[in-house]
Amino acid sequence: MTLRLVVAENPEELAACASDRIMDAVAGRMAPVLGVATGSSPLGIYAELARRVTFGSNPLARASIFALDEYVGFSADDSRSYAAFVRERVVRPLGIDPARVFVPNGAAVDADAEAARFEAQLISSGGVDVQVVGIGSNGHLGFNEPDSPLNSGTRVVTLSASTRSDNVRYFDAIESVPTQAITQGLATIGRARAIILVAQGEHKARALAAALFGPVSPECPASVLQLHADVTVVIDGPAAQHLPTVWS
Ligand code: GLP
Repeated sequence: MTLRLVVAENPEELAACASDRIMDAVAGRMAPVLGVATGSSPLGIYAELARRVTFGSNPLARASIFALDEYVGFSADDSRSYAAFVRERVVRPLGIDPARVFVPNGAAVDADAEAARFEAQLISSGGVDVQVVGIGSNGHLGFNEPDSPLNSGTRVVTLSASTRSDNVRYFDAIESVPTQAITQGLATIGRARAIILVAQGEHKARALAAALFGPVSPECPASVLQLHADVTVVIDGPAAQHLPTVWS
């Protein structure tokens, strides 16, 4: 594993470091493919990327975008869908052609077939140049919950109680949080040529330490990143607090 670790002093530095790495990964690509995560952690990065696109010629304006996951049951026009997040936070600000944006269709009648279709689309795109990922407080990656097979592809998964409760902040009540999602699998994510893991806050500290320095095991899905050749971890001080001292 080549692991670069940046412990940023503030949100601006975090966004700038991650954006620098993304720009490096797409430099010289005529048709770059960017993988995006949802959640609060990468918001500053997307804002910084949009600022860079606005202020110059930028390969990201030509990028295709692939999402990590989507809730089962939500169509793209539902404001709670990840498709809406990607549209509002990434596609519009970066001025990307919506025809080059790929998010699993959570409203598909056959969710398993939709997952297979998405995996095939990803492969035929030539693969992701750089994938942004967050980490769940239980170590999930995308929506690959603990006990996900390390060799998994895009599929329908059942969300854990802890993930539904972490994400209730985006809903009016726990009953409204979907119970299933379509997620890129751990092997799917691992095929990205470069990965940027972003995390902020002490509630991510234990999961990060397990992911980066614990055993590679389905118990901590994000530990699969240890098998990848090009991972950049960009986090804040509170999220770094349980990493070995030599790293933090
Ligand atoms: C959701 C997403 C994950 C994301 C996680 C963390 O569960 N499916 O891909 O990493 O949220 O979100 P946040 O950055 O808001 O903590």
